[in-house]
Amino acid sequence: MTLTTLVHRFGDPADVVRLETGADPPPGPGAVRVRMRAAAINPSDLLTIRGAYASRTALPFRPGFEGVGTIEALGPGVTGIVPGQRVLPIGTAGAWSQVKTADAAWCFPVPDTLDDHAAATSYVNPLTAILMLREHVRPRPGMRIGIDAAGSAIGGMLVRLAAAAGARVTAIVRHAPGPALLGDLPAAEVVVLPESDADDAHCALRDALAGGGLDAALDAVGGAHGTALAHALAPGGLLVHYGLLSGRPLPPDLQRRRPDIRLVLFHLRAYVHAAPRATIASALAEAFRLVADGTAASPIETVYPLTQIADALRHAERPGRRGKILLAP
Ligand SMILES: NC(=O)c1ccc[n+]([C@@H]2O[C@H](COP(=O)([O-])OP(=O)(O)OC[C@H]3O[C@@H](n4cnc5c(N)ncnc54)[C@H](OP(=O)(O)O)[C@@H]3O)[C@@H](O)[C@H]2O)c1
Repeated sequence: MTLTTLVHRFGDPADVVRLETGADPPPGPGAVRVRMRAAAINPSDLLTIRGAYASRTALPFRPGFEGVGTIEALGPGVTGIVPGQRVLPIGTAGAWSQVKTADAAWCFPVPDTLDDHAAATSYVNPLTAILMLREHVRPRPGMRIGIDAAGSAIGGMLVRLAAAAGARVTAIVRHAPGPALLGDLPAAEVVVLPESDADDAHCALRDALAGGGLDAALDAVGGAHGTALAHALAPGGLLVHYGLLSGRPLPPDLQRRRPDIRLVLFHLRAYVHAAPRATIASALAEAFRLVADGTAASPIETVYPLTQIADALRHAERPGRRGKILLAP
């Protein structure tokens, strides 16, 4: 019998994520049983539990899109992977459990250079940051790039990666950053933009940029910040919209009001489910390297045992958090 979390109805994560015990049957053909070692709580988990993707989420489900574990048993026909190997079982949820049964083809070995906490945060945000920059933004020296939610885990990665490529980065945060965050945002001009209405944010950002538009912007907030970034773009600029931290969408008429900018929506899930395995493996190899050297590392605030899942979920939704909340199954 193992411990797992289950969601039977959508709602407030701390209320609806239930801890249950269950038998884990031996893995079927092509599958493996993974003994989970650490798992991350990410905004996409919380959105899914709240029902944001209800049309493609069948109840009940095991939550947790990101975590690292050790291969414990192989189903019939599985080759190329051995018991005892540490892997990221991606492509499906179920990481907030002591044991996850996964398709062997979706298990990617993790290098020894990463400890369990680094490995448990080496997929969702690092891969998204790498892919958005590589496939869409293509930062180059002197390019002007705006990044909102710069205090988030992925915001920090984007700032560091874009700055390392020589871009001039404007990092937007919703409240004054502490010294830890400022130290983490090298070479970036930090703009504090309170969550006011779109027009206020637009003017404040334009003033902060002191003339000259952005060449590209990465928006994880939507609402006022996303709109302000869109309006701060120079003609021909690119807005990559990849998150909705404010809970408010971009204005539906944004493209009509700024017909001269390009708007791209990025979803890691859509990317990995369409990409060949070799492409994912090579992007993950880059992610592992950048996590190990710190560029795509996530600060960790606290690790909770799985038995304290409700406390962990409440902590994950607390404003002003300075790192990821992990679960140790
Ligand atoms: N599309 C994709 O495929 C994809 C992939 C990865 C991540 N994402 C998105 O990227 C975003 C960040 O993810 P993460 O894992 O890096 O988050 P995180 O670090 O776990 O937490 C988000 C942080 O953003 C800040 N924040 C929250 N609400 C905000 C708001 N309304 N305006 C500005 N900042 C706000 C908070 O810091 P403060 O309290 O200090 O402000 C919070 O600590 C999420 O929206 C996530 O869904 C999307």
